[in-house]
Amino acid sequence: MKILVINGPNLNMLGIREKNIYGDKNYPALVKGIKAHAKEKGVKVTCYQSNYEGDIVTKIQKAYQKFDGIVINPGAYTHTSVAILDALKAVSIPTVEVHISKVDEREDFRQISFVRNYAFKTITGEGFNGYNMAIDAIIER
Ligand code: DQA
Repeated sequence: MKILVINGPNLNMLGIREKNIYGDKNYPALVKGIKAHAKEKGVKVTCYQSNYEGDIVTKIQKAYQKFDGIVINPGAYTHTSVAILDALKAVSIPTVEVHISKVDEREDFRQISFVRNYAFKTITGEGFNGYNMAIDAIIER
């Protein structure tokens, strides 16, 4: 089983950005944790991060018939991107939406999620562990 983990804009700034919300561990630490979990579960994982909406769309398109699952934290594009939603629908790969923070308890503008229209599950407020939970949800499915 192959799972693609996508992180959107500013998630490369983990450990620097708003530590009170996102914690003090950095993006390489996130990737390390995800890879260790995937290895334990016997799945292959590819981690990708981009600050560019179009690059994320292209990455999703290229996943067509190559990956069995997608874990995506679209960052701020969660709240704006119909293009990312459409790409996920186009490739029809089972997807879990992840947010490190409790987005539901934050600002009004974070209450809209476009990818939620496609994702079969959403995990919020579980910190880095949310990505591992998402991988488990894809395996179970
Ligand atoms: C986030 C929440 C988004 O609202 C924000 O724009 C992010 C990170 C999260 O992981 O909690 O960049 O997706």
